[in-house]
Amino acid sequence: MRNPADPITTKGTTFDMSAASANTPEIKLQVNGLAKLYGQTTALDHVDLEVRKGELLTLLGPSGSGKTTLLQLICGLQEPTSGTVIIDGKDQTHAPVNKRDIGVVFQNYALFPHMTVAENVGFALKMRSLPKAEIDAKVNNALETVGLAHAASRSPSQLSGGQQQRVALARCLVYDPAIILMDEPLGALDAKLREVMQIEIKRIHRETGATIIFVTHDQQEALALSDRICLMNDGKIAQLGTPRQMYDEPQNLFVADFIGISSIIRGTVKAGALETAIGTLPIAGEGPANGTKGAIVVRPEVITLGEGFCEGRVRETVYGGSELRVIIDAGKQEIIARAPAQAGDVAVGSMVRFGWAPDTARFLADKG
Ligand SMILES: Nc1ncnc2c1ncn2[C@@H]1O[C@H](COP(=O)(O)OP(=O)(O)OP(=O)(O)O)[C@@H](O)[C@H]1O
Ligand SMILES: [Mg+2]
Repeated sequence: MRNPADPITTKGTTFDMSAASANTPEIKLQVNGLAKLYGQTTALDHVDLEVRKGELLTLLGPSGSGKTTLLQLICGLQEPTSGTVIIDGKDQTHAPVNKRDIGVVFQNYALFPHMTVAENVGFALKMRSLPKAEIDAKVNNALETVGLAHAASRSPSQLSGGQQQRVALARCLVYDPAIILMDEPLGALDAKLREVMQIEIKRIHRETGATIIFVTHDQQEALALSDRICLMNDGKIAQLGTPRQMYDEPQNLFVADFIGISSIIRGTVKAGALETAIGTLPIAGEGPANGTKGAIVVRPEVITLGEGFCEGRVRETVYGGSELRVIIDAGKQEIIARAPAQAGDVAVGSMVRFGWAPDTARFLADKG
């Protein structure tokens, strides 16, 4: 990780980041010891989280890990069992939804079918009895931002899925809320459109400077979009960090398994190495104590094929354009490696040696 005292160098220009303001980002939202019980179910288990002003933070995690619950507590759709929600330094834990200056975009963004696009976007402003000229200006501005100014007078049924999603976003942007919460907003879109909308959301985030909390269970989407990722598991934060930190420095096996592709090889530590079903594997650095149980985590891109301290049989090769994914059976252990796509000599069914430089893999202990 970058030492905050180090200068940042970009394309030959050096920026001095030592000024105090550069090192202490303004906190927009703070959640302290936030918990939510539904009967016997712990939906959220004492979560502490700080969201910086202007950042795009994703809440990532498997189904039921508490992502939606956390959003609902932040915007006030649910009351917490305990803990506090601080927005801009003010305790808003029990403030009503409409007093929090938060915009929400849900997966089911149901637009009003009998209203035009512009009327949909301006609806809430009209309910608040803003002057018509002001509503028109704000609606136009929001539609410009999502690239739909030309479709203002259309009805939602005349729009594609992605365009409807943009209208839902404009409906939220029109208030200029301090924080925007999005709960799986791209879940209903096909893969291609999802990618287009991910780029749109990045652009809108950059242009508006909004603080965005974006929920997804798609790790690829989280890696692509986020300033930081908050990975949830069982109502708790498993790890919080930049996409690169989450990928390169997973703090536990759950994170290593959830983010990116890896081979996870379990075993027991003996004399600074890990005894596993596929042999004794090196552990980089100072080895953990004898008897420690855990796993070596190896990313596909660090595995060398054709040489190394392990051997297995090639079960499958999967062509992916620029690379060939190679799945190897080493006893009961599955290893995922990758080779350049033009490497034509990885034959399914053949035996192959493989290995990796010890310091490119990580040992992570089981939770004790
Ligand atoms: N209104 C409710 N009543 C009872 N239990 C609930 C309620 N809402 C959520 N839960 C439970 O709380 C836990 C967390 O749910 P939550 O909806 O926050 O998960 P999630 O991470 O958003 O999952 P998904 O990815 O499926 O949307 C789950 O076990 C869920 O069953
Ligand atoms: Mg959810």
